[in-house]
Amino acid sequence: MAATKSLSIFLLIAVTCVAGGQAANFNITNRCNYTVWAAALPGGGVRLNPNESWSLSVANGTTGGRIWGRTNCTFNSTGHGKCLTGDCDGVLVCNKTGTPPNTLVEFALNQYNNLDFYDISLVDGFNIPVQLSPTYNCSSVKCAADILGECPTQLQVPGGCNNPCTVFNTTQYCCTSGVAGCGPTDYSRFFKEKCPDAYSYPMDDATSTFTCMGGSDYRVVFCP
Ligand SMILES: *[C@@H]1O[C@H](CO)[C@@H](O)[C@H](O)[C@H]1NC(C)=O
Ligand SMILES: *[C@@H]1O[C@H](CO)[C@@H](O)[C@H](O)[C@H]1NC(C)=O
Ligand SMILES: *[C@@H]1O[C@H](CO)[C@@H](O)[C@H](O)[C@H]1NC(C)=O
Ligand SMILES: *[C@@H]1O[C@H](CO)[C@@H](O)[C@H](O)[C@H]1NC(C)=O
Ligand SMILES: *[C@@H]1O[C@H](CO)[C@@H](O)[C@H](O)[C@H]1NC(C)=O
Ligand SMILES: *[C@@H]1O[C@H](CO)[C@@H](O)[C@H](O)[C@H]1NC(C)=O
Ligand SMILES: *[C@@H]1O[C@H](CO)[C@@H](O)[C@H](O)[C@H]1NC(C)=O
Ligand SMILES: *[C@@H]1O[C@H](CO)[C@@H](O)[C@H](O)[C@H]1NC(C)=O
Ligand SMILES: *[C@@H]1O[C@H](CO)[C@@H](O)[C@H](O)[C@H]1NC(C)=O
Repeated sequence: MAATKSLSIFLLIAVTCVAGGQAANFNITNRCNYTVWAAALPGGGVRLNPNESWSLSVANGTTGGRIWGRTNCTFNSTGHGKCLTGDCDGVLVCNKTGTPPNTLVEFALNQYNNLDFYDISLVDGFNIPVQLSPTYNCSSVKCAADILGECPTQLQVPGGCNNPCTVFNTTQYCCTSGVAGCGPTDYSRFFKEKCPDAYSYPMDDATSTFTCMGGSDYRVVFCP
């Protein structure tokens, strides 16, 4: 019994060390003066009262990673309920993407040449200001402008500012017919002017994608 337990503990430590040595830590902090229900894929979700943090370990090589915040949520004791923005199928611990509008932090770790790729995207609209900062000496990206206060009328929804693709679902706004015919629009220019570092439409890569040497950790701050 004791031997089995020691072995389990040994295996647990071994697994933790392998994962820990190659994982990136994301320290997610809520500096808003309201509660944010943070969500991450992979990772799940937690409630963050003002000034609370969530430390998330993300495996080496993760692609398609995203972190976002949800607002005005109510969940029961088993973590079922709903949020005004960013809701992920009515659960506290997300395993699906959030409902727009939601400001997105996106990343892929240890890709080509072991580089991390990261960005902030407004392609699913905006709900909470956010900043993403590598702990290595690489660019920090931020979208903290007053987008809710100046959101074009047609894009306004309670708690957020939608992207035109979500509202109008046209090939032009959604870039669903490829690069040709996919360019900035008056709506995307509104987002770009407010947050020059963030994706304002799906193919806005040139000014919106950032890289850092793999191995960096990251800080994510809501309401930086
Ligand atoms: C991630 O894994 C790759 C191989 O898959 C390795 O080359 C790289 O050093 C690892 N990076 C970190 C930070 O552990
Ligand atoms: C995360 O960041 C907060 C705010 O800077 C800090 O207080 C906390 O110690 C950090 N947590 C970890 C695990 O690094
Ligand atoms: C939160 O901060 C905003 C702007 O900084 C302010 O207008 C608002 O009154 C504050 N709300 C609370 C509940 O403190
Ligand atoms: C959060 O912490 C900062 C300093 O770390 C403090 O100035 C601020 O009042 C705190 N905010 C809340 C809502 O507790
Ligand atoms: C929580 O909500 C879910 C979904 O509405 C429901 O199925 C479940 O019974 C609720 N649990 C409690 C403890 O209220
Ligand atoms: C996602 O969460 C739901 C609700 O908790 C659960 O029923 C489902 O199996 C989960 N899906 C995956 C892929 O983990
Ligand atoms: C960070 O990088 C910049 C630009 O590459 C460089 O000018 C600066 O000296 C670096 N700072 C540190 C502390 O390494
Ligand atoms: C969201 O909740 C805050 C309090 O946390 C409240 O002031 C605000 O009116 C709510 N927003 C909406 C659209 O219900
Ligand atoms: C958007 O339009 C396409 C066809 O143009 C349709 O297949 C798709 O279901 C629509 N999406 C939504 C969310 O309505």
